[in-house]
Amino acid sequence: MHRRDLLVGGAVSSAALLAAAAIADAAPVSKPPPAPPLPKGKTPPGLGKHAPVPLAFKPGALTGISEKMITSHHDKNYAGAVKNLNKVEIDLAALPHDAPGYLVAGLREKQLTYGNSLVLHEHYFGNLGGTGKRSGALETRLGTDFGAGAWEAQVRATATALGGGSGWVVVGLSLHDGSLVISSSGNHTQAVAFGAPLLVLDMYEHAYAIDYGAEHAAYIDAFFKNIAWDVVEARYDRAMKALTALG
Ligand SMILES: [Fe+2]
Repeated sequence: MHRRDLLVGGAVSSAALLAAAAIADAAPVSKPPPAPPLPKGKTPPGLGKHAPVPLAFKPGALTGISEKMITSHHDKNYAGAVKNLNKVEIDLAALPHDAPGYLVAGLREKQLTYGNSLVLHEHYFGNLGGTGKRSGALETRLGTDFGAGAWEAQVRATATALGGGSGWVVVGLSLHDGSLVISSSGNHTQAVAFGAPLLVLDMYEHAYAIDYGAEHAAYIDAFFKNIAWDVVEARYDRAMKALTALG
């Protein structure tokens, strides 16, 4: 090929590229698809705008957990955590970019503490107000996976181990591998990384001291008498659907 042919070929290629670029510039910019809507009832409240959820039962209607106890727990401890979460979120949003690491780390830790406290308390209060009678797909599976009655014995033993201290006992569904998991947390933050809480028991002393002092075993008995099992089964059904959707 002669040098002239190469030059001509190069000129043609350059012209083609310029024409293509001009067409691309003239083409309308396609808009990104709209974000899918959030499920009903799952609209985030916004930073610093969490609000306590009222009790779904009459506070004087529980068996072995007094109105004074449950009201104090709900209105002071739980509502206090919600209030603190709001403050922490606002403080985090206001941090300058050059904020010292210890300040950021401290606030992030508190964000998790109060955020998990909100979630766990809402599950705890949400699974109270029933008769303790159990039936359904989860009840059947708990018997299959742990042995008849064994899961309750394990929950009781785990709660007893926390008695006199503080923490939570959670029966949850792992959204990682679909297994049912009984776990405990010595504070608010030791949660299963990718789990859906199904049955939640608050073992902080603020949950029973007014009624039972240090007698946490009596409180554990009372807890089992007040479980709203229909709520727990509905959580299991929802979590299984989420597990399926996650693939
Ligand atoms: Fe609590």
